[in-house]
Formats: sequence, C-alpha cells, structure tokens
Amino acid sequence: MKGQSYLVTGGGSGIGEATAEQLIALGAHVTICGRRAENITQVAARLGDRCLAVTADVTQAEDRADLVYQALAHGGGLDGLVSNAGNMYRAPIAEFDQDRLLDIFNHNVISGMMLSQLVVPALAARQGSIVFLGSIHTRRAFPGAAPYAATKAALQTLTQVMAAELGAQKVRVNCVIPGAVMTQINDRAGLGSTEDLAIRMTAIAPMHALGRIGQPMEVAEAIVFLLQSNWTTGALFDVDGGLGLGLTAL
Ligand SMILES: NC(=O)c1ccc[n+]([C@@H]2O[C@H](COP(=O)([O-])OP(=O)(O)OC[C@H]3O[C@@H](n4cnc5c(N)ncnc54)[C@H](OP(=O)(O)O)[C@@H]3O)[C@@H](O)[C@H]2O)c1
Repeated sequence: MKGQSYLVTGGGSGIGEATAEQLIALGAHVTICGRRAENITQVAARLGDRCLAVTADVTQAEDRADLVYQALAHGGGLDGLVSNAGNMYRAPIAEFDQDRLLDIFNHNVISGMMLSQLVVPALAARQGSIVFLGSIHTRRAFPGAAPYAATKAALQTLTQVMAAELGAQKVRVNCVIPGAVMTQINDRAGLGSTEDLAIRMTAIAPMHALGRIGQPMEVAEAIVFLLQSNWTTGALFDVDGGLGLGLTAL
C-alpha cells in the first residue's frame, strides 16, 4: 500500500485505531479523526509520521470539509474512506426519544453519506473504495437495541445502492459486519460499568460458533481486505466468529 492514502473516521480507538495501524504497517498514508483530540493525537504519535490526526466531528459540515482537505493534502489524494466513526443508542420502544433517534442517525448514517459525497471525486480519480461498518445487530435481534440496529441496517442498504451507483466510476463500496468486539463504544454510551460489560461479553461468547468474542484487529483485517479487493463491491462481509449463524444448542 506504499503511496496509497486512506481516511479512517473514528481512528482514535477500537476498530478504527486497529485499521489505521494495519494500513500504516502496509506502508500507506493514513488520516484519522475523532472528537477527542488527545485520543487521536496519541494514536498518531504511536503510528508515526505517515499518520495524521485531525480533530473533527463528522456530523459537522465544516469539520468534514476540513478533514477531507487535510486527508487529500497528507496523502496526495485518496484511495479509500473507512467510515467507521459510530455511537450506540439503545432504548426500549416505550422510551424512544426523538432527539436521540435523530442524533444517532445523524452520527451513524448521515455523516457517512455526506462524507462519501465529498470524497467520491478523489476516489474516482484513483479507483478507490469506501468501507462502512454494519453490525451483528442486523443479523440477530437484541431487544432494546432497535435505534442502533436501525442505523446499521440503513448503512448496509446504503452500501448496496451506493455500490450500484458508483460502479460506473469504478468506485467500490463495501460493508463489514462485525460481531461482538470489546471496545469503548458501550462504555461511551453509558451502558453499564466495565465489569458489567465484561460479564455480558463473557455470556455472549458461547453463542459464537468459534466460542469467543473478537478483537479489533480481526475486524480491521477484513476492512483492509475489502479496501484492496478490486472486484468486490456491494459486499456485506460478516466478521463475527459465527455469532450471526444463530447457533442453537439442542
Ligand atoms: N465493538 C463492537 O462490538 C462493534 C460491533 C459492530 C459494529 N461496530 C461498529 O464499529 C465502529 C467502530 O466502533 P468501535 O467498536 O471501535 O468503538 P469505539 O472504540 O468507541 O470507536 C468509535 C470511534 O468513533 C469516534 N466517533 C464517534 N462519534 C464521532 C463523531 N461524531 N465524529 C468523529 N468521530 C466520532 C469515537 O471518538 P470520539 O468519541 O473521540 O469522537 C471513537 O474513537 C462503529 O461504527 C460501531 O458501530 C462495533
């Protein structure tokens, strides 16, 4: 990937950080963003000069424009967008809050759509690609998680329509569908203490065909594969240790 350039949103932690790390290891230039400057600056310092940290909130149009401008300058163009930044909002139906619903769709869906609009001309110039992050929540139903699940279902459909639309420009669009991975996302959403989360993750492990939850690096591998796979577009790629199979022990 020497000479190539990638933009990874939400690159300051979890799956985004692991993806940036792999892309840097393969020789690419990478621009990461997040709202917490300290987080992304630390990651960029660890990954070296080819990684640029830009403090940006992807829901804000001005931040998106500045982010893309800086990514193009840093990498001399763009070969891929990993639209990874995302947040969790869970609520039972009786507690749906309209402002929070609009906010989670804005974060998880609209920001990636608008960022895609900005980067398509640069991607078309390099026959590049976009990778979105779907979720196991579209494969298995978790009661109380409808708001988050609905945003991820939207992204998965978006992947297929955008792939069809952008094929003529040789721009590919794919989606990784991760299973359970221990990252900051639940913690940041205030869904219980670290101990509660660890207990939930332990409980979910036997539901995976492979008997364990995943690591951010294992999802990053699939993202990097999709970025490089020149004849793959519109793919919804499950990387979930078999959780989506709905393992049933009778
Ligand atoms: N972990 C899982 O089990 C799992 C499973 C399926 C799918 N996913 C998806 O994987 C993606 C990465 O999540 P993760 O699990 O790696 O969690 P994470 O560690 O919390 O990473 C999410 C990152 O997104 C950034 N972010 C959130 N809102 C942003 C905004 N408005 N602008 C810029 N950056 C923003 C956060 O940084 P700041 O807070 O500093 O902005 C954070 O670094 C998400 O789309 C998530 O839905 C995760």
